Amino acid sequence: MKNIMLVGGGVGNAVLFSIGKAALAKGNKVLYFTGYKKLNDLFKRTLIESACNVVVWACEEGLIETARMQDYAFQGNIVDAMVYYRQQLDSIDKIIVIGSDKMMKAVNEARKTVLRPYLQSNHEAISSINSPMQCMMKGICARCIQRHVIMGKESFTYSCSNQDQDMKSTDFDFLSVRLKQNSLQEKLTAKWILHSV
Ligand code: FES
Repeated sequence: MKNIMLVGGGVGNAVLFSIGKAALAKGNKVLYFTGYKKLNDLFKRTLIESACNVVVWACEEGLIETARMQDYAFQGNIVDAMVYYRQQLDSIDKIIVIGSDKMMKAVNEARKTVLRPYLQSNHEAISSINSPMQCMMKGICARCIQRHVIMGKESFTYSCSNQDQDMKSTDFDFLSVRLKQNSLQEKLTAKWILHSV
């Protein structure tokens, strides 16, 4: 049995429901931090609750009302929530983070600095790398390439072959630059949708 911590930002939570449920079914304990900018951003509350033993609801706009005795609410961003509830983190074996590149980078930084005294030194930390993708053929177009650096040694991974990558070696600035390549298409698509509705 392991103690697993899920950290989901906004729509990233949609991917964590099934991970949390599977972890519980295998007898693990699951602590789930969810983060939102606005109160209205919360979706599928019952699925989140059924995917963990304890939820910490973090929202920048205000406090989310908890529906269960064991859960907590925090006004602020998800990293600040983790710092505030740091006493809950001492037995965590594995962290799984899904959210924006900036959120995942902030969690990784906190893991190595302010949260370091509260986490086990040998915990595993995985983030779901949301690289831009094109062919999805594991090494043909390289659109999904992601840089890793460990002990000064550089390596590259095709995210389409494995999105779940080790946080400690992930270069999140590289991911941020790669994601900006899609910026023009995303803006044009948003304008086209606005024009069409
Ligand atoms: S998306 Fe083309 S190699 Fe990964």
